Amino acid sequence: MGQAKAMADGSWYDTDIDHVIISEEQIREKIDELAKQVAADHADVKDGILLVCVLKGAVMFMADFARSLGRQGPSTEMEFMAVSSYGQGTTSSGVVRILKDLDRDITDRHVLVVEDIVDSGLTLSWLMKYLESRSPASVEVVALFRKPDAVKVQVPTKYVGFDIPNEFVVGYGLDFAERYREMPYVGVLKPEVYARS
Ligand code: XMP
Ligand code: MG
Repeated sequence: MGQAKAMADGSWYDTDIDHVIISEEQIREKIDELAKQVAADHADVKDGILLVCVLKGAVMFMADFARSLGRQGPSTEMEFMAVSSYGQGTTSSGVVRILKDLDRDITDRHVLVVEDIVDSGLTLSWLMKYLESRSPASVEVVALFRKPDAVKVQVPTKYVGFDIPNEFVVGYGLDFAERYREMPYVGVLKPEVYARS
């Protein structure tokens, strides 16, 4: 039964989720809203917006946001960066290591950092300084999620999708031990999931 039953009733991850924080529908609506705002604010940008996706967590957001923006705004180009913060487990330290750098020069470009979640803000704060040192015309941030109660450093995040409680969440790109990224919604894992890993 196991596998077949799970497939018929839902997806493998549904039974690991304690509660849903943001639904698939809410994410879709919010992304269109964010894209509309970004499009309106960048109507006069001539050379397009350079989207910088922060891997891996922002991968789903980048894909959906770029498509929504493409339908209503200026043209975009995509860059991908991967960073890792030295730190233990699920907390960030602010010391960041670049695992994958930009492929191109961003001088005089309008850069929009596409982030999954702003937690302490330490990673984003470091990334902003790094990008600003490369002489872009502007650097702004769109983050799908933010945990206001976890903030350690304030980072000007122009566009924010949802403020969420200070709990560890998975789904829509966010992982626990590299799993759950494919979930179309965002939720909190049952305590026993941590216990069995
Ligand atoms: P800081 O604390 O530097 O952290 O703002 C940012 C990065 O940490 C990851 N992060 C999470 N990943 N569930 C996750 O799967 C979470 O609840 C969570 N909170 C932070 C994420 O990669 C983010 O970019
Ligand atoms: Mg992660």
